[in-house]
Amino acid sequence: MLESLPLPSPKLTLAANPVTDAADVIVVGLAEDGSLSPTSEKTSLSEFDKATNGWITGLIKNGQIRGKQGEMTLIASPLTSGPTMFLVVGLGKKAPSRATAFDLASAAIRKLSDRNRKRVVVALGQSLPDEMHDSIVAGSIYGCEGQAIYQAEPSANVPTEIAFAGIQQTAITRGEIIGKSINHTRRLVNEPPAMIYPESFATRVTEIAKESGLQIEVWDEAKLEAEGCRGILAVGAGSSAKPRLVILKHNGGGNEAPIAIVGKGVTFDSGGLSIKPSDGMIDMKCDMAGAATVVGTMRAIAELGVKQNVIGLCGLAENMISGSCYKLGDVIETRSGKTIEILNTDAEGRVVLADTLDVAIQHSPRSMIDLATLTGACMVALGNEVAGLMPNDAPLCETVEVAAEQEGELVWQLPMFDLYDEKIKSKIADIKNVGEGRWGGAITAAKFLENFVGDVPWVHIDIAGPAFADSPKPHRDAGATGVMVRTLIRWIENASIESTR
Ligand code: BES
Ligand code: MN
Ligand code: ZN
Repeated sequence: MLESLPLPSPKLTLAANPVTDAADVIVVGLAEDGSLSPTSEKTSLSEFDKATNGWITGLIKNGQIRGKQGEMTLIASPLTSGPTMFLVVGLGKKAPSRATAFDLASAAIRKLSDRNRKRVVVALGQSLPDEMHDSIVAGSIYGCEGQAIYQAEPSANVPTEIAFAGIQQTAITRGEIIGKSINHTRRLVNEPPAMIYPESFATRVTEIAKESGLQIEVWDEAKLEAEGCRGILAVGAGSSAKPRLVILKHNGGGNEAPIAIVGKGVTFDSGGLSIKPSDGMIDMKCDMAGAATVVGTMRAIAELGVKQNVIGLCGLAENMISGSCYKLGDVIETRSGKTIEILNTDAEGRVVLADTLDVAIQHSPRSMIDLATLTGACMVALGNEVAGLMPNDAPLCETVEVAAEQEGELVWQLPMFDLYDEKIKSKIADIKNVGEGRWGGAITAAKFLENFVGDVPWVHIDIAGPAFADSPKPHRDAGATGVMVRTLIRWIENASIESTR
């Protein structure tokens, strides 16, 4: 049977003597001022330099090695012991952030993936502040995963061991959890739709839940029927792959009200009868990225043991065409009782989320975030690297912005003025599933969702742009990016701090 590569799982260790221990490559940092920066005086780079009578310093003085951010120089060591190769990573001029630490570590590992390397030492710890050390580790793991998961001869090699220098074990443990959790998210997204459909998605999440100690409940089509989830069922009605709803629970906060995270899980979006052109359908395996983000985040907070109650919900359906698919003009009574008129079967994500959000609010969350590859309009508004935030509660939105800023993920708020509500009023039902024309399409979609969140403080995050990349960058392959997992982990952890105040 067709099977993808196993998820990367290099052995992560502490490097005792980075300069003298054998390694295939040692990764060292260099700040951009032509010389070793004050912080890197203490690094293995300068220690090594002493042992070689200024070999590296000489190359830097000559301008052969530069510290421009992201610049990488791979050179062979002149010594016969210790690391065989040096990868000098430019740290740049600016004060580094957690995101730079993550990206540089990932880019370094990706740069080294062209060969089989048994032991890579990442000695960036001493060049970067302690609070970024888990990002170095997470980035290193992230760099091991790409979209080429079905090649007989894998084009990217994963080191057998990555040893970290200048980093505490606690940062390694935390970074490994975060890096692997993001890779779980990316793998779910990168798997083709024949492999990941609602039922198989639920099966994989069940395995992840078991391993990380999450509670899980899976609603099959009979249960969805019994629960009145007619929106989810309608979107899935055209497919032979039946819809599912997954509910994950992490109980770390006693009897406090939970935080809810909700994801759109359309495992393939053909558009249905409002069919997409072929080019627009190519990447539509990525339309479950919101649900995969929920899974990665839930895994991480369970493994990190976050002291907080969190529930994660994934609304799963495949949007297809057949004699039984939902149609234009259909009116669906959602689980909440609100009726929706279907005027475009390609605006299916909001129909799935209508029921999923309704199930979520039944758990009386104190706050809620949903994530969805919801609209092309959000990409028109913000480009493909920025997620759109659409809240019903300004203070809550600010907490999301703060978490995203801390993790260096790009988000931008769009307005939720009342005037947009007019645009989704239906002449036949309570609301219709598209706005008038294409204008403000990201916002009218969010306004539709707002109908299903009750009084719960909520932020909708449209990740249609940043969830899936057309082309690679130094720090990541093309394909699934795992965007927002880091922000959500941070956001949930910040909520823990607030609630203990
Ligand atoms: N899944 C798409 C949105 C999307 C587009 C995600 C491109 C990622 C990349 C969504 O279901 C959709 O088709 N939205 C329509 C809505 C429209 C019919 C109102 C869109 O954006 O065109
Ligand atoms: Mn669609
Ligand atoms: Zn969709």
